[in-house]
Amino acid sequence: MGRSLVVIGNWKMHKTIGQARDFIHGLSKKISSTSIQVGLAVPFTALSAVSEASSKKFLIGVQNISQFSEGAYTGEISTTMVKDAGGTFSLIGHSERRRLYHEDPHMLCQKVHHCLSEGIKVVLCIGETEEEHFLGNTEIVLKAQLQQGLKGVRIEDMPQIVIAYEPVWAIGTGRSATADEAQRAHSFCRSVIAHAYDKATAERVSIIYGGSVTVKNIQELIQQPDIDGALVGGASLDVESFATIVNFLADVNL
Ligand code: PGA
Repeated sequence: MGRSLVVIGNWKMHKTIGQARDFIHGLSKKISSTSIQVGLAVPFTALSAVSEASSKKFLIGVQNISQFSEGAYTGEISTTMVKDAGGTFSLIGHSERRRLYHEDPHMLCQKVHHCLSEGIKVVLCIGETEEEHFLGNTEIVLKAQLQQGLKGVRIEDMPQIVIAYEPVWAIGTGRSATADEAQRAHSFCRSVIAHAYDKATAERVSIIYGGSVTVKNIQELIQQPDIDGALVGGASLDVESFATIVNFLADVNL
């Protein structure tokens, strides 16, 4: 049994409730198989409508979440609120959150732990910047982000975690990593997890690639042994292109 393939759309700050609902109805019609895990990380405002419309066919989650249970945290959304609105997972540590909102490693690790204790699955996003890439520091950065994000996470909680490798220079730029580059990074991440836990745990964790994934480049990316799916930004906004990616991965999985 291989690892399960996972494809998640990250809508970022796009789609009204109506647009989100229409997307889910369209996607349901276009998807031929559910042999893989299909998720959507949606804006908070659309969460409830999307989870109702998807009626458990897709995993519905959010792009960010508070590390606290409740209280005086203006502008934040808790795990309880997310669950109440039908969400089951959260992206944590997306590079836009790290860079634009200064989410630091300690905070991200708190979010991971809080989600795990509250039964919210985690998609932990990691990736090097362009400068780190050119300086040859990719592995140093990935190792640090994995160690910081997973610090104190118990081996029995690892099945609740998906790792998303997203080179920052590839996000929203149309410049995806090559399949070889991505494979090297994924294989390295798996070795870091094997070292921190054990080989079996590392073999079971799904590591998905993100950064300018399209209908075209997914075909080569998914042939790589350590790439277990995709986190799709821009191409997940259009139902046609997202459905094509999902259906392609479902066919590969057969
Ligand atoms: P992109 O975004 O596919 O538009 O590059 C990916 C992401 O930010 O998760």
